[in-house]
Amino acid sequence: MENKMKAVGLYRYLPIDDPESLLDLTIPKPQAKGRDLLVRVKAISVNPVDTKIRASKDQIEEKPKILGWDVAGIVKEVGEDCTLFQAGDEVFYAGDSTRQGANSQFHLIDERIVGKKPDSLDFSAAASLPLTSLTAYEALFEHLAISHNPSSNANKNLLIINGAGGVGSIAIQLAKSVGLTVIATASRPETRDWVKEQGADIVINHHQDFSSQLKEANIENVGYILCLHSTQMHWSTMAEVIAPLGKICSIVETDKPVDLGLLKDKSATFSWEFMFTKSLFKTPEMITQHEFLNKISQMVDQNEIHATKNHHYGTINAENLKKAHKQLETDTTIGKIVLEGFD
Ligand SMILES: NC(=O)c1ccc[n+]([C@@H]2O[C@H](COP(=O)([O-])OP(=O)(O)OC[C@H]3O[C@@H](n4cnc5c(N)ncnc54)[C@H](OP(=O)(O)O)[C@@H]3O)[C@@H](O)[C@H]2O)c1
Repeated sequence: MENKMKAVGLYRYLPIDDPESLLDLTIPKPQAKGRDLLVRVKAISVNPVDTKIRASKDQIEEKPKILGWDVAGIVKEVGEDCTLFQAGDEVFYAGDSTRQGANSQFHLIDERIVGKKPDSLDFSAAASLPLTSLTAYEALFEHLAISHNPSSNANKNLLIINGAGGVGSIAIQLAKSVGLTVIATASRPETRDWVKEQGADIVINHHQDFSSQLKEANIENVGYILCLHSTQMHWSTMAEVIAPLGKICSIVETDKPVDLGLLKDKSATFSWEFMFTKSLFKTPEMITQHEFLNKISQMVDQNEIHATKNHHYGTINAENLKKAHKQLETDTTIGKIVLEGFD
């Protein structure tokens, strides 16, 4: 087993109930070169991106495809060009969609997109954070260009569509940390309670009319919108409730075009956030993910925000990962699902 490791992966893209949708495998253990770290994976969390990549399609892999883009672990080896970390460091990161995922005992990752794990969290809680907090951080502070200064945000509000999911749970906390009034959407009693626990000031239901619910809360319009579900479905509502000169950012792909013209009279802006953009295109800004994760880590250790782990599904194996994928595919997950250690 010296040069081998356990992993969970797939050769074929199958419905999750198919016994071969995810498989327990033994694969070669990689070696760190250049700016790569070799990380011993201690815990992972599961995201809709895993289920979207695994979704059924007519394609067969020659080498197993490993999913998993949320990790907390310990640096085992560093490549010869690494300057940010050394063996023994505890780290957390989301990773790079162009490379193998991290559902394996060891994983290679470019150090520029890795952060220092919060000291105050165990590995399973730390694994709940990287992908969603990077997504929320980039959306709020890069695309919506929200100020970090709470006094600038005193009279400003943000609408988060899908407050209770993985991204919404941390986005609420980050927005509250800079003094915004946060309106989050949730449609069930348990998700309403959860978004309030994360700090939302006002909760509205995404299956009911937004405008009248906002009016009931004495809100005429919203300066910022973060769309974390069904961009197409919520598009005309977003155009209706955004304030003149407001900003909308979405993280969810559309399969049909949306009518940008609806934003014209208000001179409202729209932007995408895709957490994988920087690593996908190897942009010079890649290193900001290292910086943002370190900032998130510091905020956790200073009790300004907390981890969003809500379910622990046991050790990292195909059976438990299938349960996690199945739960995510119900579209009712609250906070994050984590798995920890190998059998
Ligand atoms: N672009 C990126 O970089 C990026 C990064 C991360 C995630 N994403 C994408 O963002 C989406 C959200 O990810 P996530 O991890 O937060 O998802 P998630 O945890 O699976 O979200 C689950 C929540 O969705 C809510 N929901 C269901 N139907 C809804 C609707 N019609 N409108 C609004 N909310 C609804 C449910 O709340 P109720 O039960 O209260 O209805 C549920 O609690 C996914 O599509 C994911 O692939 C993109």
